[in-house]
Amino acid sequence: MRRKLAAGNWKMNGLGAALDEATSLAESHANTATEAATEIVLCPPATLVREMARRCQGTAVVVGGQDCHEAASGAHTGDISAEMLADAGAKYVILGHSERRAAYGESSDLVRHKARRAWQAGLRTIICIGESEDQRQTGKTLDVIGEQLAESVPHNASGETLVIAYEPIWAIGTGRIPTLDDIGEVHEFIRAQLKARFGGDAGDAVRLLYGGSMKPDNAAEIVRVANVDGGLVGGASLKAADFGRIIDAING
Ligand code: PGA
Repeated sequence: MRRKLAAGNWKMNGLGAALDEATSLAESHANTATEAATEIVLCPPATLVREMARRCQGTAVVVGGQDCHEAASGAHTGDISAEMLADAGAKYVILGHSERRAAYGESSDLVRHKARRAWQAGLRTIICIGESEDQRQTGKTLDVIGEQLAESVPHNASGETLVIAYEPIWAIGTGRIPTLDDIGEVHEFIRAQLKARFGGDAGDAVRLLYGGSMKPDNAAEIVRVANVDGGLVGGASLKAADFGRIIDAING
């Protein structure tokens, strides 16, 4: 059985006062810090990682970063390493988000190197893949997903270290989501690819999240789709009340 996962991606949002949202979420979900319940991960901006991890220690809320560099340390002004995130208390890191692929030209090769480094630092990785609207309309979705998946994931992946987030780029922040059939088709494809590459057991153990305009009122139907093990949530993760409702919907 794969444990359900709700991951919140705050992106470049959140000053110190926003830490109260994390503590409020930890309080409202105090009784869900068990293996049977949905795992809760919040990925705030790097400036808030250490303090959020401190405040949420021993609660159901686990903290993650939004990106890391592929090197362990060195002359990389403005960047942050996986070791630094782990040292600050992070347990996860999001890699290859489409906003980083688009704004910084991050390739799947680079994402793979980052993932390797993150695993060495003891972080779990949420690797994002997804098609553009044009690719969806021209029938290229599965080709694009297959290529990103093959190139972004290192060869020694396991269900312990790897989470995949399927995030159609055109659904992010737009309020639009694919049909449930389309989500199911992509997730089934990702599962099959993982099993073919890593073997049945390992491929089955990797959790697959859906991301892109997941909200309190659509989360339940999305996570009922086969091979959807939870969500990667942007806008609706900023407020504890909204994200809490999504977590409850994923919990079922
Ligand atoms: P959204 O973002 O929930 O605001 O659409 C999701 C994401 O980018 O991870």
